Amino acid sequence: MTRPRLLVVSMSLPVTAKRTGDESWSFTMSPGGLVSALLGLKEFETKWIGWPGVDVHDAVGKETLSIALAEKGCIPVFLEEVCDQYYNGYCNNILWPIFHYLGTPPEYQHYQEGDVVWCHDYHVMLLPQYLKEYNSKMKVGWFLHTPFPSSEMYKTLPSRSDLLHSVLTADLVGFHTYDFARHFVNACTSILGVEATSEGVVDQGKVTRVAVFPIGIEPERFINTSELTEVIQYMKQFKNDFGGRKLILGVDRLDMVKGIPQKYQAFEKFLEENEDWRGKVMLLQIAVPTRNGIGEYQKIKDQCHGLVGRINGRFGSISAVPIIHLDCAIDFNQLCALYAITDVLLVTSLRDGMNLVSSEFVACQNAEKGVLILSEFAGAGQSLGAGALLVNPWNLKEVSTAIGEALNMSPKEKERKHKINFQYVKTHSTQQWADDFMNKLNETTTNGELRN
Ligand code: UDP
Ligand code: G6P
Repeated sequence: MTRPRLLVVSMSLPVTAKRTGDESWSFTMSPGGLVSALLGLKEFETKWIGWPGVDVHDAVGKETLSIALAEKGCIPVFLEEVCDQYYNGYCNNILWPIFHYLGTPPEYQHYQEGDVVWCHDYHVMLLPQYLKEYNSKMKVGWFLHTPFPSSEMYKTLPSRSDLLHSVLTADLVGFHTYDFARHFVNACTSILGVEATSEGVVDQGKVTRVAVFPIGIEPERFINTSELTEVIQYMKQFKNDFGGRKLILGVDRLDMVKGIPQKYQAFEKFLEENEDWRGKVMLLQIAVPTRNGIGEYQKIKDQCHGLVGRINGRFGSISAVPIIHLDCAIDFNQLCALYAITDVLLVTSLRDGMNLVSSEFVACQNAEKGVLILSEFAGAGQSLGAGALLVNPWNLKEVSTAIGEALNMSPKEKERKHKINFQYVKTHSTQQWADDFMNKLNETTTNGELRN
């Protein structure tokens, strides 16, 4: 199949812009798994449409930023322009002329016939409906990178029906796990009264396919990076810095759903109950800043800092503390070096769509064969569970026991577990994930055309 041009639409662009002068901009990679996964798509001609992470009020700024982003295949949506686009665009440039028999509506600038528009995540649930209203032949997919909750929870949303109706106008709707897909279908049947079939959902004869596509990573990128001289240098340096202690690593956005306070409490319990391990093991937590403007995110940061202070005060010594907590993202090569020298990766998400960090760790671990402790509430639990120690992050005793088990695991058992997961990660790439989604979307739209 020849691959169509792909228009990816998400809330944020893969790069966040920062103004460095009147006409100059610098860029950093935007946080989160959605962005890092989709950057692994090399075999589609892709344009990415979204917010550039910064408000720009002047025309020169908008123009220079648009030009700089175009070189990266990105098209910015300046959010303050949405109102302008409504008044000057939709109302007075489309509806007004049509209502007065003047000409035909203008073509959308970026869409060309044959393109596929792939909408990502909860921020753009209302978009499929608008796209289909504009052009019912447009091929539209929607993928959710987060969990979809049980319909009992989802029902509490005041706009529950509007969101579902819009998503159902897409041709294909994708989730990471069967549970999320099942919850979605249940919400559609119980809230909208539509019919569920083995293929998806049928609303007044219109079929929306609902399917499961667990996302992966670009394994070679991680495997190859772990072999770079600079990265090997970092590994040596970090091992030296950590003074021979076993390394437990956490890598998460500093988000309530990642269960970082629970992770600290479980580690504290482990240190309480395992005196022999004190001073011989450390937990390094990379806590990537996110959504700083929301009060709850500030609170979770304070809570983590409080716990780290308490635990380091209780179990630290003059030469070393048991927890290092960093409120920042780190450079990709350093991240790979850390993944590679880690003895235990500790993922305690209270809920998580997939959790790519688990796969990235596995990809970098071919030499060490470290242990993955993985929350059963992460989507990744369903794909990497067989080679991991699965835990309920709310059960501190269980997590503490798993830490002990991981640190004491025999090399043979570590190798056995690692092999299962490495094989999985190598064969389930982001490119494969996108190809599966596109093939199913193509099949769905072709069947739809045959039915009509
Ligand atoms: N990550 C990063 N810089 C860091 C730490 C993490 O770019 O300093 C990336 C990490 O490599 C992973 C992503 O952030 O690809 C996190 O994705 P995940 O699916 O684990 O969680 P999400 O943030 O999407 O909830
Ligand atoms: C999760 C969401 C993504 C979002 C990312 C970062 O992975 O599924 O849609 O881009 O978090 O969130 P932020 O709000 O910091 O951009």
